[in-house]
Amino acid sequence: MRDFYPDDMACLNAVLNAWHSSAHRFAFSEYGSCVVESLDLLKRKAGEEIADQLYCFTDKSGRELALRAEMTPSLARMVAARQKALTVPLKWYTIAQCFRYERMTRGRKREHHQWNLDVIGEEDVSAELEVIGAAVDALTSLGVARARYRVRFSSRGLLGAILRRLGIPQEHEGAAFLALDKREKQTQAETENALTAAGLDARAVSQVFRILDVSTMEQALEIVEEDCDATARISTFTDLAKACGLDDVLSFDISVVRGLAYYTGIVFEAFAADDDLRAIFGGGRYDNLLEDVGGKPMTGVGLGFGDVVVSEMLSDAAQEARPAPAGLAVGYMEDAQRALAMSIAHAMRRDGKNVDLALHSERAKNFFARASKLGCSEAVYVGPDDAAAGTVRFKDLARRSDSEIAVADILN
Ligand code: HAM
Repeated sequence: MRDFYPDDMACLNAVLNAWHSSAHRFAFSEYGSCVVESLDLLKRKAGEEIADQLYCFTDKSGRELALRAEMTPSLARMVAARQKALTVPLKWYTIAQCFRYERMTRGRKREHHQWNLDVIGEEDVSAELEVIGAAVDALTSLGVARARYRVRFSSRGLLGAILRRLGIPQEHEGAAFLALDKREKQTQAETENALTAAGLDARAVSQVFRILDVSTMEQALEIVEEDCDATARISTFTDLAKACGLDDVLSFDISVVRGLAYYTGIVFEAFAADDDLRAIFGGGRYDNLLEDVGGKPMTGVGLGFGDVVVSEMLSDAAQEARPAPAGLAVGYMEDAQRALAMSIAHAMRRDGKNVDLALHSERAKNFFARASKLGCSEAVYVGPDDAAAGTVRFKDLARRSDSEIAVADILN
């Protein structure tokens, strides 16, 4: 698990702030839930990989619980619980701490913060473009240039139509999806064995490998031959991407399947162009999840965007960009001036300034050196003579100018 020292926290907060701002710019409302969830809910539609990575435990009442590995099941549970009262489409977002027992590598940790953007109750592909648009907006505001990543997309509906066209029956669809999703993590022989174990014959196995030769959307549409809902949706998605200014970052990739079992339609994953990291964000359409958790049928589209990969991509300069430190430092020479320094600090804070109040007496030289190190732009120092005269020394540290201010003016 991760510890965040102040420098790390400053970097994390830069990411969190960008997420909040982009979510607000795209008019998503924030929601939240507990990090502990029912094990059954988290396992139900997670897919094999995440189900194996859950941190689970039994509580004192014998309930089977787990730390959430993702937010989508909890979101579905929350929406299903109030489905009648909620007006759709909902556009909700949250930033959730998630836990997965993963093999740790660069960009892959056992704990991460995940920004989730979801649209519930909207069938139009505008919903897909809206969540991707917000994620791209956040990357832009973090200073990640568009040339540095691609958002690869495909469609499980389209892939299903291709598999059927290639003579692979629907009952083997799940195994084929899993094999395509794991293609980069396992050898060709391992993939072949997994497909054979799932019941595919040698011809079907070779057809699954044929899919990986498809490199353009036109080729994919050609295999399907007839138009269907999946082909129409992916064509509209591509056309509208231009209107949203997203066509330069999107590229079709038949092998994008996504590991989670609940996706039903368009799926997408953003990857760094110049680095071998895990996805920056990923998501897709999940039209059956609400029903699967006991709700009425309702469509959903969303994405998860973790803090770990994007932090690796931020330049050193961006990593070093600290939030504004305390603006004003207040110090004093002797304990006799402590109460006056405290009153000044509190008056300044009431006035809206960020104030670092010295916690013990200090020589002027030490105090001003410390104030500069803290990054303060202004400093007020109270010495015995000033206090007796009813004034304090005010220093503009940036401009290196000095002045005297009447204590009464500050306190009032
Ligand atoms: P996911 O692809 O499993 O999707 O995770 C989404 C993102 O979370 C990844 O692209 C990555 O940035 C980050 N992430 C996941 N696991 C780790 C890890 N171990 N270390 C660092 N970062 C990680 C989901 O979780 C879906 N529930 C997203 C979604 C929301 N789909 C619809 N709505």
